[in-house]
Amino acid sequence: MPSAEPRLRLAPSLLSADFGALGEAVRAAETGGADAFHLDVMDGHFVPNISFGPALVAAVRARTRLPLDVHLMIDEPLRYAEAFRTAGGDTLVFHIESRSDPEATIRAVHQLGAAVGLAIRPDTPFSAVEPFADRVEQLLVMSVHPGFSGQKFLPDVLPKVAAARQRLAALGTGGYVSIDGGVTTETAGAAAAAGASFFVCGNSVFTGGSVGENLHRLRGAVEEGARRAVR
Ligand code: DX5
Ligand code: ZN
Repeated sequence: MPSAEPRLRLAPSLLSADFGALGEAVRAAETGGADAFHLDVMDGHFVPNISFGPALVAAVRARTRLPLDVHLMIDEPLRYAEAFRTAGGDTLVFHIESRSDPEATIRAVHQLGAAVGLAIRPDTPFSAVEPFADRVEQLLVMSVHPGFSGQKFLPDVLPKVAAARQRLAALGTGGYVSIDGGVTTETAGAAAAAGASFFVCGNSVFTGGSVGENLHRLRGAVEEGARRAVR
């Protein structure tokens, strides 16, 4: 018997927040109903951008009790797993396209007491992560090319969301299917309908308007989409 569907979660991506007022952004999102925070780590090698490292993750950890989802867009996630776990990451998400061995990385993250997320870029097929689906707590499907917030959602990735959902449902592990990139009130519904259960939202939360109202509208879009989902 597959386990119950996981609760739909909204995870604001702090890459889109004002780094000069990060504590306020964290507080506003937490008060506004965020379920977790998503932290985008970029090394300038795996992606053509550099964001932040463990020190910033630790600063966020000190300001919230919500789970921290650390998205490692770096060449060597295995090498840095301990540092990001020590900084307070609850889930360490790494890319199958990285240079670290997936088996060894999954094992190391679990040994550190964190959950594992396995991510794929838009042009990587679902079959690349399928063999590991039974050992991870989250499969993350990128709906933009990693490196920058504020890009346009790529709907071509939706069949991969559906494939991930089906695989996790069959396994009954209760794992999440995350969608990351360009998630807005216009696109979140389609992702939910395809089976996503964890929604990373950057610009749609922090750019313009009230963080609480933005989260409320996103929650509405996600719930509407989930009602259309074919299970
Ligand atoms: C992109 C990052 C995303 C991004 C999301 O490389 O992985 O998490 O910050 O931002 P939006 O929602 O604005 O696309
Ligand atoms: Zn991300």
